[in-house]
Amino acid sequence: MNSRDTSERMRLKLDRHSRTPFYRQIYQRFRDAIAQGILRPGERLPSSRSLASQLSTSRGTIDLAYSLLSVEGLVVSQGAAGTEVARAASSLKPPPKSPSAPKRRWDEPATEILACQPFQMGLPALDAFPRKLWSRLAIRHVRSIKVHELSAPSAAGYEPLREAVRSYLAVSRGILCSTEQVIITSGFQAALGMITRAFLKPDDEVWFEDPGYFMIRLGLEAAGAKLVPVPVDDEGLDVSAAMARSTRARFAYVTPSHQAPLGVALSSRRRLDLLSWATSADAWIIEDDYDSEFRYGSPPLPALKSLDEAGRVIYVGTFSKVLFPGLRLGYVVVPESQIDRLGRIYELLYRDRPIFNQAITADFMTEGHFARHIRRMRALYSERRAALAAALAEVFDGQMSVQLQAGGMHLLARVAGCKNDRDLVARAKARGLAPAALSPWVIEREDRQGLLLSFTNIPQEAAVAMAIRLKQAFDGE
Ligand SMILES: Cc1ncc(COP(=O)(O)O)c(C=O)c1O
Repeated sequence: MNSRDTSERMRLKLDRHSRTPFYRQIYQRFRDAIAQGILRPGERLPSSRSLASQLSTSRGTIDLAYSLLSVEGLVVSQGAAGTEVARAASSLKPPPKSPSAPKRRWDEPATEILACQPFQMGLPALDAFPRKLWSRLAIRHVRSIKVHELSAPSAAGYEPLREAVRSYLAVSRGILCSTEQVIITSGFQAALGMITRAFLKPDDEVWFEDPGYFMIRLGLEAAGAKLVPVPVDDEGLDVSAAMARSTRARFAYVTPSHQAPLGVALSSRRRLDLLSWATSADAWIIEDDYDSEFRYGSPPLPALKSLDEAGRVIYVGTFSKVLFPGLRLGYVVVPESQIDRLGRIYELLYRDRPIFNQAITADFMTEGHFARHIRRMRALYSERRAALAAALAEVFDGQMSVQLQAGGMHLLARVAGCKNDRDLVARAKARGLAPAALSPWVIEREDRQGLLLSFTNIPQEAAVAMAIRLKQAFDGE
């Protein structure tokens, strides 16, 4: 059947005065035609090229409409043979208006990684992790466990891993330190526990980025800190605003490489101002370098710690973003003057990092897999990020603005007219999507609304479908 026959049967015409975008008009007409039996299961849809030329619109518009139908399982693409009405489409019923339990669709990850929902923050690309290679290294360790590995490891961590981290930090983050300064932790939160136990006294003031990661804010408060929210602008934490707000702060918590969640980098001027404040105030800077490797278009920025001549920066890194969060491993670079103090806390209170995972991670690093994995992920994220940003722009058609920062693992988006980002997130959640709202990260300016959308687990080819699902969830369709 040619495209003209089909569209005549369906009475397919575009209303050029309607506010409904063309792709939605086309989608809706096809949907109705399938529901009414005008188009039958197995029937071929016109090619996007011929339908586009017949309706005087672009091929992209037709592709978008077809993607939407495909997301609903109404049509299936047969590759070069075109797109046809799905066999199951005969049982088409209107989509439920109220939230219902999400069903797995073609564009969702396989069941084995359903722990990750589309747009979910904080996860690296789980589908791209070299699991076979990791398993091979793990098996090698199980088979050849050494006698010395049976005894308790050093409190500061497994020596070869500390050495691998030291060498990685020198090459990739510009941090020159000794292996003694590197303590292996079970992730950022554990590092925070160690730092606050060692240094924080009740009601000590802490400069905290606003907006900033609420889990860390809560962690600091649970440890007895009094938070001083400090605004973040295009240059990162506003150091002069911080000094005006609190002159007696003992700590500053910062994410200088890509501010969490705004994604901006702390400017050189502010880096120097922050370091000179810490030196003169005898205060500590906690540098959280959680996702610094993922910068697109330019090489990663050196860490703030690389400029720390006075030894005021406690540098905290994690393997959660570059490897996987289930590993529960991270590291701290302790100022030389504090090795004994922090090492002692670790020795007395934290013996929670079994050798096994540390040894696999050490091999992964020293055998060159780590650097290769980071390079691959940087390229993959760069593609996934661009694809998702383009898809959102196309599907939301001016109703969403996406801010592309130089790095990071998520997009920051603002939805036109949105007064309640938590409501949008709840609607998305009801459809099995997991964007995050910006407002819980904000301390003072609660009018700051937005969406945080991770792109790491959205393959390029699924970007349009995911953007459509998000829009449908917001529109309640
Ligand atoms: C700002 C920030 N820092 C650090 C982390 C890493 O935490 P962990 O090492 O405990 O997994 C996260 C995780 O989401 C984060 O968002």
